[in-house]
Amino acid sequence: MKTRITELLGIEHPILLPGMSWISKPKLVAAVCNAGGLGILATGPLTPEQTRASIREIRELTNKPFGIGCTLMMPGAKENAEVALEEQVPVINFSLGKGDWLVQRAHEYGGKVIATVTTVKHALSAQSIGADALLVTGHEAAAHGGDVTSLVLVPTIADAVDIPVIATGGFGDGRGLLAALSLGADGIAMGSRLATCQESPLHQNIKNEAIKKDQGDTVYSPNFDGIPARYMKTPTAVKLTKRPMSFPIAAIKATQAAKLVGQPVWKIMLGLFVMFDKIKLLAYFGAATPRLMAATEEGDLDKGMQFIGQTQGLIRDIPSVAELIERVIRQAESAHQNNGEKLV
Ligand SMILES: Cc1cc2nc3c(=O)[nH]c(=O)nc-3n(C[C@H](O)[C@H](O)[C@H](O)COP(=O)(O)O)c2cc1C
Repeated sequence: MKTRITELLGIEHPILLPGMSWISKPKLVAAVCNAGGLGILATGPLTPEQTRASIREIRELTNKPFGIGCTLMMPGAKENAEVALEEQVPVINFSLGKGDWLVQRAHEYGGKVIATVTTVKHALSAQSIGADALLVTGHEAAAHGGDVTSLVLVPTIADAVDIPVIATGGFGDGRGLLAALSLGADGIAMGSRLATCQESPLHQNIKNEAIKKDQGDTVYSPNFDGIPARYMKTPTAVKLTKRPMSFPIAAIKATQAAKLVGQPVWKIMLGLFVMFDKIKLLAYFGAATPRLMAATEEGDLDKGMQFIGQTQGLIRDIPSVAELIERVIRQAESAHQNNGEKLV
């Protein structure tokens, strides 16, 4: 299936794996690339050395284009982005920060840059700094989606910009892909759905839970990591999202979490002072880390919190990445034909 996004990124199918912390690791990234999509490595929990090693591992597993994700406001993200530029990674996806320097440096070696946005204002700003495409995240998404649902956000942003749009948040099958194309997008990114494939390092307990739970079994709240985010609904998630964590506790936990993600504590502290307005956000996010890891890596939903989208309702099996991507393309093509027949 060819679209502006397959042409831009040099891939076979307009399907992306977004950068998901502890999930979008080299093996899953490469599996998506080898199946004709584009995998994006998550670098949030990685040190620059680990980022370089992961890029090299991906290159051993696939000769197809791949991407790297950088949440620019997080500690260590700029250093990881530097590694990506040095390694001339084909696609760089940035969010939550100014990416003009990334665009300039990636374009020097022919790399492409995708900006993650949730509003028309940020979409226009990303286009103006030369981003090659946008990853537009709707309200249905796992983790930090926008306020507006994909059904409205995608066409309004697609109308406002000229560059290709990748829709994410709520896309889990071929009907979703066809719908995204109809809304003006040029491709989709599937987070929850690809996270529950065989090659994904997401703990088996969580994959099984995602099959049991449905589209209503998510909690959307700003109270856990400081930014509105969507989690799997469990008694722990309901309890921990009831009210915001107090700031002193969040700050202490953030410094503890710094060690877990391989970041020196001084760097977290420096971040707290330099970006005064982001103090609370950083502390909350750091404090959330051990619980996010407990779910994703240990499958512990009593202690842990799991990001998951409303697409949970569409997850009914654990296919291989290649099976899933082939199925999504087939479904989209047949839904396209059936839609023609529905018109009377
Ligand atoms: C387990 C999990 C972890 C995630 N971690 C991140 C992350 O570290 N950074 C990020 O920008 N988005 C993260 N996301 C969100 C995805 O990038 C994407 O926006 C979302 O999954 C799209 O919604 P969907 O799940 O309906 O496909 C995560 C999603 C999941 C399911």
